Amino acid sequence: MERVSTIKELRQQITGWRKAGDSIALVPTMGNLHAGHLELVRQARQRADRIVVSIFINPMQFGAGEDFGSYPRTLEQDAAQLERAEANLLFTPSVQEVYPRGQALQTIVTVPGISQTLCGVSRPGHFAGVATVVCKLLNMVQPDLALFGNKDFQQLLVIRQMVEDLCIPVEIIGAPTVREPDGLARSSRNGYLTAEERSRAPILYRVLSETSKAIAEGRDDYAVLESESKQRLTAAGFKPDYYSIRNAADLSAPSGETGKLAILAAVYLGRTRLIDNLLVEQH
Ligand code: PAJ
Repeated sequence: MERVSTIKELRQQITGWRKAGDSIALVPTMGNLHAGHLELVRQARQRADRIVVSIFINPMQFGAGEDFGSYPRTLEQDAAQLERAEANLLFTPSVQEVYPRGQALQTIVTVPGISQTLCGVSRPGHFAGVATVVCKLLNMVQPDLALFGNKDFQQLLVIRQMVEDLCIPVEIIGAPTVREPDGLARSSRNGYLTAEERSRAPILYRVLSETSKAIAEGRDDYAVLESESKQRLTAAGFKPDYYSIRNAADLSAPSGETGKLAILAAVYLGRTRLIDNLLVEQH
């Protein structure tokens, strides 16, 4: 695996692969890699000749008072994992390389509508930060495809809409959420949980699964399902930020017609914000 940290070196490497006729996949990450990230790399391997993984903790997507400073930085472990996963290139740009004029003078990509609900309400500016950095990474690498996890389902939809709106010639692939054996979705932020919080954390997945089962069995009183679930989470010591049943295509309110729904939740467990979701077919 090659390792580069400047756009110039990145482009040199990619130009060589393009000349050889290789297809290229990009897996953007913020590092502290776990089985969820590695699943994206595995899926990329099945679809492209060359896999580029970026590790960049993007300051623009963190709000004031969020965990930018304390976000886990584990570059050497990450590189070893990517080597084993047979990634071809690790791109680790500095903040200066990505935002040479500083963030205040950076052109910003905002994706209206889809960015303005759920996590977009609780984390103002977050999705503009994500869309801006992903747009830049796509322009730097110019991959044939880029892979993102369903775990961050709203992020995946924001990126799909950005790519469509800006006519970026890339295929966006969503990959299934990788979970711990007890159901907790893998996340770099799980490391913030105390042992006691960690033992309660899988309740989130259990509550989501119960909602999913109820919908699959025909319940369509979504507002009641949402408030029952919030109550269960609150009783288990979580502070729900949102718990919402939406159309999976665009996160609009379910219309009563058949189609795929997403049950999306964000909760605080102590100081840690966890997000998770499940997709379910309504009948
Ligand atoms: P990060 O949280 O590092 O996640 C990188 C990618 O891994 C995202 O596409 C995310 O959805 C996916 N992922 C995380 N946990 C997963 C899991 N348990 N199962 C499957 N996929 C999982 O998301 C970001 O970084 C950033 O916002 C980024 C897109 C890199 C832009 O800065």
